[in-house]
Amino acid sequence: MKPIRKCLFPAAGYGTRFLPATKAMPKEMLPVVNKPLIQYGVEEAARAGIADMAFVTGRGERALKDHFAVSHELERRIAGSERESLLEDLCRLVRECHFSYTRQLEARGLGHAILTGETLIGDQAFAVLLADDFCVTEDAGVLAQLAAIYDEYQCSVVAIEEVPKAETSNYGIIAGEELGPGLYRVSEMVEKPEPGEAPGNLAVIGRYILTPDIFDILRSTPPGRNNEIQITDALKTQAQNGKVLAWRFRGRRFDCGSVPGFMAANEFAWRRQSQSTA
Ligand code: G1P
Repeated sequence: MKPIRKCLFPAAGYGTRFLPATKAMPKEMLPVVNKPLIQYGVEEAARAGIADMAFVTGRGERALKDHFAVSHELERRIAGSERESLLEDLCRLVRECHFSYTRQLEARGLGHAILTGETLIGDQAFAVLLADDFCVTEDAGVLAQLAAIYDEYQCSVVAIEEVPKAETSNYGIIAGEELGPGLYRVSEMVEKPEPGEAPGNLAVIGRYILTPDIFDILRSTPPGRNNEIQITDALKTQAQNGKVLAWRFRGRRFDCGSVPGFMAANEFAWRRQSQSTA
């Protein structure tokens, strides 16, 4: 039984809701307090035992590459000063993890972005983390929670949460049989259904463990919602063989793909940070 070693970070979207901030950098570089969303994501993957970080990039990829690179000059400049600790975690990540990049040439949807990452992943089960879903947990991070389920069941696993019925059109929505508290075997999946068409109110959030057969499935998945290739549609094919589980994760999510969610995450993190240093 092989553990999950690689995490794919799709970061090729346009982030148009945050213009002009995202004109020259991906939205995943927006900070919650002083740390970019993508770094929280990489830290969560590292805490799940993953050391290979694979990015699918678009415009502005330089900011990501520079962030996860050694900067001798900067490190020398702050060495011994009170600012040194601000870079500590990042320096450790950069030295302990491996970072690779591939560029998505056209924005054809999340499924297409994941398929673009095949070259970095190869033939093994892997994690996917959408960094604009900012997740805060008490104990194990969301990816570590999914990886524990994968270890036991050896099939694809998605993280879910309950959302108000009126908001189903923002998410992939699942339905299935509850195997135990919070764990479902997925039987139905729909990408961004209107409330009247949704099979329930359990929404997929941006954390996935995918088995590598997903790549072949994605190759033959036609464009779906918004004329884009959807990971939800490919997962639905896997689910037809009983090979997708959904886990109601322990923790709290902020939708940092929207300005209100992003502001709420900043407020929450700032309050927590000020309390811990007070
Ligand atoms: C993507 C997925 C959707 C999922 C969501 C989680 O949508 O397509 O199924 O529920 O991420 O954040 P996006 O938010 O990229 O439009």
